[in-house]
Amino acid sequence: MKRDLLTILDLSAEEIRQLVTRARAMKAEWAAGSLQPSLAGKVLGMIFVKPSTRTRVSFEVAMYRLGGHCVYMTAGDTQISRNEPLSDMGRVLSRYVDGVMVRTYSQSDVEELARYATVPVVNGLTDWFHPCQVLSDLVSVEEELGSIDGIHVAWVGDGNNVAHSWINASARLGFTVTLACPPGYQPDPKVIERAERQGIAKVKLTGDPREAVRSADVIYTDVWASMGQEAESEARKGVFKPYQVNAELLACAPAHAVVMHCLPAHRGEEITDDVMEGPRSVVFNQAENRLHLQMALLEWLMTGKS
Ligand code: CP
Ligand code: NVA
Repeated sequence: MKRDLLTILDLSAEEIRQLVTRARAMKAEWAAGSLQPSLAGKVLGMIFVKPSTRTRVSFEVAMYRLGGHCVYMTAGDTQISRNEPLSDMGRVLSRYVDGVMVRTYSQSDVEELARYATVPVVNGLTDWFHPCQVLSDLVSVEEELGSIDGIHVAWVGDGNNVAHSWINASARLGFTVTLACPPGYQPDPKVIERAERQGIAKVKLTGDPREAVRSADVIYTDVWASMGQEAESEARKGVFKPYQVNAELLACAPAHAVVMHCLPAHRGEEITDDVMEGPRSVVFNQAENRLHLQMALLEWLMTGKS
C-alpha cells in the first residue's frame, strides 16, 4: 500500500528514527561520492500554490541526486487556477509521476489529493503543518546535540504550522516542547489534544519566553506572519515584540542550547541579526538537512526501502 506524509502523525516513532538515520547516512554517502541513484527513472511532481525557496530546491536536488527527475508546477500555470478538482488532479498525476509533493493553504486539500492519488503524496507545507521541516530539523538536532531523545525544544513566537509539526513530533518521540506564544496566537488546541491522545507527548504552553528557554536544548522561532497572513503583518509586529529571540533571551538559556529557524527569517523581528549570525545558530545546516531528509523520505516512499 502506498504511504503518504501529510503530518508527522502518519509515521511511527520507528519510521521517524529510520528516516533520520538514513538521511545522515545519505549525507555522508554524498560527501564520500558513494550515493547510489536509487530513484533512477522516477519522477516527482511538485505543486506550489504558495511560494518557496528551500522546499522547491531541496526536493528538486534530492530527486536529481538520486537519479530521478522533477516536474515543477504552480497553481497559476496548471488547471488548479481554473478549479480542476484535486480529486481529478490526484488521479491524473498518478498516471504520470511516482510521487507528488504539494505546498498549499488548506490541509484538507492535501488530504483530498492523497485520497485520490495512487502514488505517495508529501505535504510540503500547509497552513496547519510542515512535516518535512520538522523531520529534517530532527536530523540537525541529532547532529548538534547527539540525540533526539529527551530533548527540550522551546518554541518562541507564533503557534503556527511549524509549531504544530513540533507538537506532532513530541507525540511520536515523547520529548518536551514548550511553546511561548502571545495570548491568541497559541497553537490550535485540537492539535495539542490529538497529540496528547497519542500518549507520550509532552507539550507545555507559557506566555513567558524566558521561562520557556530556561532549560531548553533548542530555541526555535519562525516568522510572526506566515504566508497568507501578510495583511496582519504590521499588527503582529506589536503583539510579538516581547517574543523576539535576541541576546537577552539567549542569556536565560543553558550555554549548550542551539538556535533554530526554518527560514526565511525576518531579521530584527522574530530574531536579531547577531543571534542569526552568532555561534549558537544552526540555521544554515538546518536548511541543508532539508535535502538529506527528503532524499531519505523520497527513497522510502518511492521504493519502499527503509
Ligand atoms: N523552510 C521552508 O520551507 O522554506 P521555503 O518556504 O523557502 O520552502
Ligand atoms: N510559518 C511559515 C513557515 C515558512 C517555511 C509560513 O507558513 O510562512
